Amino acid sequence: MQAWICTAYGPPEVLALREVEKPNPQAGEILVRIVATTVNSGDVRVRAASVPRGMRLLVRLALGWSRPRQPVLGTELSGIVEAAGETVTKFRPGDEVFAFPGVKMGCHAEYRILKENERVFLKPKTLSFAEAASLSFGGSTALHFMRKANLARGEKLLVIGASGAVGSAIVQIAKHIGAEVTCVTSGPNGDLVRSLGASRVIDYRNEDFKSERESYHVIAECTGVHTFSDCRHVLKPGGRFLGIAAGLPDMVAMLWSKAVYGKRIVAGPAEESSPLVQQIGEWAEAGIFKPVIDRSFPFQAMREAHDYVDRGRKRGSVVIEVTPRS
Ligand SMILES: NC(=O)c1ccc[n+]([C@@H]2O[C@H](COP(=O)([O-])OP(=O)(O)OC[C@H]3O[C@@H](n4cnc5c(N)ncnc54)[C@H](OP(=O)(O)O)[C@@H]3O)[C@@H](O)[C@H]2O)c1
Repeated sequence: MQAWICTAYGPPEVLALREVEKPNPQAGEILVRIVATTVNSGDVRVRAASVPRGMRLLVRLALGWSRPRQPVLGTELSGIVEAAGETVTKFRPGDEVFAFPGVKMGCHAEYRILKENERVFLKPKTLSFAEAASLSFGGSTALHFMRKANLARGEKLLVIGASGAVGSAIVQIAKHIGAEVTCVTSGPNGDLVRSLGASRVIDYRNEDFKSERESYHVIAECTGVHTFSDCRHVLKPGGRFLGIAAGLPDMVAMLWSKAVYGKRIVAGPAEESSPLVQQIGEWAEAGIFKPVIDRSFPFQAMREAHDYVDRGRKRGSVVIEVTPRS
């Protein structure tokens, strides 16, 4: 089978399409032929070793010193079960599934082995393969942070970076909860975030949300541009700051922000759990959540897709279509 190998940390040119051995499912595992996957902010961060402030050493120790220890990137997929190992009870060959290996990655390939109990579910029938592949990274990250924030009906939420994969999912989940959502985005993305549920849009090129005082119960910061100290005066007393792309300083400040300022920081890696992914899948099936798709690239154009995502302007997800070779 073919897989894209990340040969070093660097620009998209470090990616190489290679022939690798097709794996066989063992007991409790399924072999999935991948139909669609995504290139997301996590993939390009790993490929480029570009991480939030203060995280460089920790991330290299975790992921690999001179190149990623897992050479095949790609955190999420949709596809068709081709074979099932002994003892597998949940899936059969021919089943259409979506999955979120998350930091274990390995989805930028023609096939991937998955444990039947690890963040893999039947694809909602109402979703295309491209949509199903785009559910998990943004959706489960958004749901993790929304739950930590304990956002309640009627509360005011500010989403900074609302047009990205995580931000667009946060807006939809917050709307479902019944919160009042204001989005910070550039003008051209105003219509998109309004269609997802924003009642007010701030175009960051003309207006600075930081001129407001004590306006929001929760701020979801999805760009890494603004820290807790930049934003804390914009939060109401008792407010929560979700530093989705926060660096080490905000993670450390989580320890005292509530005691010192009466406002809580939530930062750090989102939990990658089956219940979160399952919930997102159920909401997608019920029409409550719809992943935003920016554009699709063929499997062979993986480097072009990385280049596009590197620019930091994508709306929702960038999909890779993996068509089988005849
Ligand atoms: N903590 C975790 O576990 C976790 C999990 C997933 C992702 N993340 C991090 O969360 C961040 C967001 O991820 P993502 O996948 O949603 O990113 P993304 O899809 O690549 O975000 C792209 C969007 O960000 C917007 N944007 C860029 N600069 C902006 C600014 N200054 N103000 C407002 N919007 C801006 C762009 O809109 P415009 O073109 O309108 O500017 C674009 O639509 C990334 O840093 C990622 O690494 C963290």
